[in-house]
Formats: sequence, C-alpha cells, structure tokens
Amino acid sequence: MPTSAPPHPSGENRPWRSVDQAMQRHDYRPDALIETLHAAQDAFGYLDGETLAYIAAKLRLPPAKVFGVATFYNHFSHKPKGEHTLVVCTGTACHVKGTDRVLAWVRDRYGLLPGETTADNRLSLVEVRCVGACALAPVILTDGDVIGKRGVEETTAVIEEWLHHAP
Ligand code: FES
Repeated sequence: MPTSAPPHPSGENRPWRSVDQAMQRHDYRPDALIETLHAAQDAFGYLDGETLAYIAAKLRLPPAKVFGVATFYNHFSHKPKGEHTLVVCTGTACHVKGTDRVLAWVRDRYGLLPGETTADNRLSLVEVRCVGACALAPVILTDGDVIGKRGVEETTAVIEEWLHHAP
C-alpha cells in the first residue's frame, strides 16, 4: 500500500499533501475517487490531465474512468475550461494508431493545441498519455465518454458529429 506520493509526473512541486491525505483516509481504495478529486481541485483550483493520471495510478483505477468521472461532473473544472472537453490519448498504443493525426486535425479544424480552448469557449483540448484503455486504441474522450477502436478518419468524424450535436 503506498504511503506517500511519488513525485508529480511533470516534476512540478505542487501541494500534493491534502490530495494524498484524502487517498490515505480511504486506504487508497477506488471509492476515494470523488473525495480525492475534490481535494485536488481545492489544492490546485482545477484538474488537469496529469493530475488525473496521477490519481488514477495511486488509486489503481483505469485512467479512463477517472477522466470520465472528472469530466462528467460540472463541479470539477479543468484548465482551460470550455463548454466541452475533448481528451486525446497520445500514449504509445494510441500514438501508433494515429492520435497525432487526430491532434493535427483538431489543430487545423479548430485552431486548438493541447491545453487550449477555442475563443468562443466551446471546446477545450486536453492531451494525456495513456488512459488505461490501450486495447481500444486510438482513444479519445468526448466529455468523458470513451471512444476507441476507430480509424483516424472515423475518429475525427465522431468529434465533428459530437460537437455538432452537443448543446
Ligand atoms: S496508450 Fe492510449 S489508452 Fe493506453
């Protein structure tokens, strides 16, 4: 059972103590997720991709689930925060299946780089390295819904369709 947090994956020195304490209180069980997300948001003001990946690893939850929960509840904010959040996985399995081309398409289509939000605040783009669903590569999440096992063209069509119909 882990007792202290490993260094934050980005190497940043961020106040992880309260986040770790939230997980410790629940013995790092998966049911600590919501409380941990609250603790992280309180500590950092928002939840970014690396924070979510870190929490997933510590609670031994599939990152896709953590991203799904975090992007489902409006209470949690992500930086930057658009009305809708597209997560693109660029871990090895997904990269091999072409998610770099999905990112290039998003850049060309919406003028967005990872970490950015469109000027009209409609869409935020988040890049993560492996959401733990490699068998589904290439993987994206549209407002927390995991979409995978589609070719690059089909994936970009899904994104277009999702944004078109999203409220
Ligand atoms: S590399 Fe994308 S889910 Fe693992």
